Amino acid sequence: MWDFPLFPDQASTNAPKLDALMLFELGVLVFFTMAILLFVLAFCVRYRRGNAADRSHPPTHSKAMEAVWIVIPAILSVVMYAWSTRLFFDLYEAPADATQIDVVGKQWMWYVQHSQGRSETNELHVPLGRPMKLNMTSQDVLHSFYIPAFRIKQDVLPGRYTSLWFEPTKVGVYNLFCAEYCGTNHSLMIGKVHVMEPADYEAWLSEKGVGPSQAEEGGRLFVQHHCAGCHRGSQTVQAPRLEGVYGKPVPIQDGKDVHFVTADDRYIRDSILLPKDQVVAGYEPIMPSFKDQISETDLLKIIAYIKSIANGETSQ
Ligand code: CUA
Repeated sequence: MWDFPLFPDQASTNAPKLDALMLFELGVLVFFTMAILLFVLAFCVRYRRGNAADRSHPPTHSKAMEAVWIVIPAILSVVMYAWSTRLFFDLYEAPADATQIDVVGKQWMWYVQHSQGRSETNELHVPLGRPMKLNMTSQDVLHSFYIPAFRIKQDVLPGRYTSLWFEPTKVGVYNLFCAEYCGTNHSLMIGKVHVMEPADYEAWLSEKGVGPSQAEEGGRLFVQHHCAGCHRGSQTVQAPRLEGVYGKPVPIQDGKDVHFVTADDRYIRDSILLPKDQVVAGYEPIMPSFKDQISETDLLKIIAYIKSIANGETSQ
């Protein structure tokens, strides 16, 4: 793998791909800028005052020249469009086998929660050579999660989840920045990314003892916030059971009609915070809103729990 001297380290599979596109576009830009500048200079000299160059008017129309200045930029635009769109989709969609890590941004720190249970602040430990997916949200204002060495940057927004993925290719320690002005201490919202050998990463995960996993914690919160009272079968309250729901289409009452929504992270989050906005067909709109009562980190744990009972990872 080549390194361009002025660029940050290339430490993810995406980095060389993005750099190649960037250098290609830079090359096109520099080539045409220099060519135009050279023509300007040459004409300045050639047609300077007092020089005896031929100033008679050139022909007013040249089909050949028109073709050149239409066809060449058109080809270059299509190449850049196709290349960058392809790359955009590669970067947008995490591989199916990517390991999820939850990230919550807040003024002014990054909270990172690994699914196996360990959490950390302003640091992110990841294993070498494995695709990792970050599922991110903000507790307060807009932030932006930025790791230059991985060539990834994504806004982190309150009230919704955004994601990023990467596969580290080089063991080392890299910078992590907040790249969206978020208040007084924005410039201190920085951290370190540690890329470790997979065995070291496993050891790091269990270094402080094997605590409850993200999903197990979520199961505890599911009881603590009284979700279990209705959603695990109740004599008095009829609420949908949640086993096997994650990832499946859910029928939502929409006036007199029913439409289907996939039960993903966002849907579950909205169901907890804004239950009246998406009532499952056939059920009464009786669930209270948990807005301002559950922290973002706890929400992520409950979602991890609901996901796990769909995959049969943990039982009740
Ligand atoms: Cu968070 Cu800037």
